[in-house]
Amino acid sequence: MGLFNWFTQEVAIDLGTANTLIIHNDKVVVDEPSIVAFDRTTNKVIAIGRQAMQMEGKTHANIHTVRPLKDGVIADFNAAEHMIRGMIKKINNGKGWFFPSLRMVICIPSGITEVEKRAVRDSAEIAGAKEVYLIHEPMAAAVGIGIDVDEPMGNMIIDIGGGTTEIAVIALSGIVCDQSIRVAGDNFDSDIINYIRRQHNIMIGERTAEKIKIEVGSALPELQDPPEDFAVQGRDLMTGVPKQITVSYTEIAHCLDKSISKIEEGILKALEITPPELSADIYQTGIYLTGGGALLRGLDKRIHAKTKLPVHIAEDPLRAVVRGTGISLKNIGKFKFLMQ
Ligand SMILES: Nc1ncnc2c1ncn2[C@@H]1O[C@H](COP(=O)(O)OP(=O)(O)OP(=O)(O)O)[C@@H](O)[C@H]1O
Ligand SMILES: [Mg+2]
Repeated sequence: MGLFNWFTQEVAIDLGTANTLIIHNDKVVVDEPSIVAFDRTTNKVIAIGRQAMQMEGKTHANIHTVRPLKDGVIADFNAAEHMIRGMIKKINNGKGWFFPSLRMVICIPSGITEVEKRAVRDSAEIAGAKEVYLIHEPMAAAVGIGIDVDEPMGNMIIDIGGGTTEIAVIALSGIVCDQSIRVAGDNFDSDIINYIRRQHNIMIGERTAEKIKIEVGSALPELQDPPEDFAVQGRDLMTGVPKQITVSYTEIAHCLDKSISKIEEGILKALEITPPELSADIYQTGIYLTGGGALLRGLDKRIHAKTKLPVHIAEDPLRAVVRGTGISLKNIGKFKFLMQ
């Protein structure tokens, strides 16, 4: 290792709508929700990540929580910069770091505009990066699940995150065709909020909705291994008093149906525009699911029923993208798909 390298610190960041993950020295050193809490009067950051998430929906007039990303892209530039800076400080348990030269690889959705790309690059630079590389999320996901992306072989990756679902066919180190749709985990949560309000006359918050999705969420109204009904507390819209109800996975499957259909439409569209030689490959290799949405019960079976293709859920789907980003960081010279 040369003297120059010794001074260069390298980090790989998956800056997600729901979660931010950082890999440093081959290890996931940060895995926290993408949230920042600010003091309204001083505009100072009070907390970021998990600590800020605990405050979400429970703040008083002096605190407000912000999710800097929306639909996979930076929506609040100032908050994003604070978040990246704060997350990097968490490496080394906040003991402080001196970065003479910080190299960053950050992943971005494939459907991102030039302006949105600029925002990611600028936030990284303001947060201290001297050298920034960008990588498209589906490419990172493919590398992360161990697909040999250089091969002349087509693979379909679907990354279902909080803000976006990225559907891409990858071959020869490039994205051949893709669909980026802004329907993902966050929409599932709002579907659940609306459903509980309409059907049960109860108002619930986003965190409760996410909990329902994780505990009893389902993409199919009938499951072989069904979860038990789940008790939910919220505010009764008629009386204003807290109330408890129970919800079943079948109800949630019905309320998520429309959003999942939109994802299915995107998959069919991507398959339709895939060149025939790659279609033939995908018939063999199937579809790989990554991102937190891949954990929704029955989603793999539902996509299989729709496409008749083999569907694989990636191992540790929430970390596939950051793993791939980390591997790309180590192969900066080799991987042509890294953008500077
Ligand atoms: N067991 C589960 N079942 C269903 N959904 C889940 C589960 N676990 C996590 N999720 C959802 O996955 C989403 C987060 O996934 P992920 O971390 O891949 O998103 P992200 O990378 O932050 O977002 P994006 O890629 O869109 O910017 C959230 O909406 C979360 O609620
Ligand atoms: Mg993601």
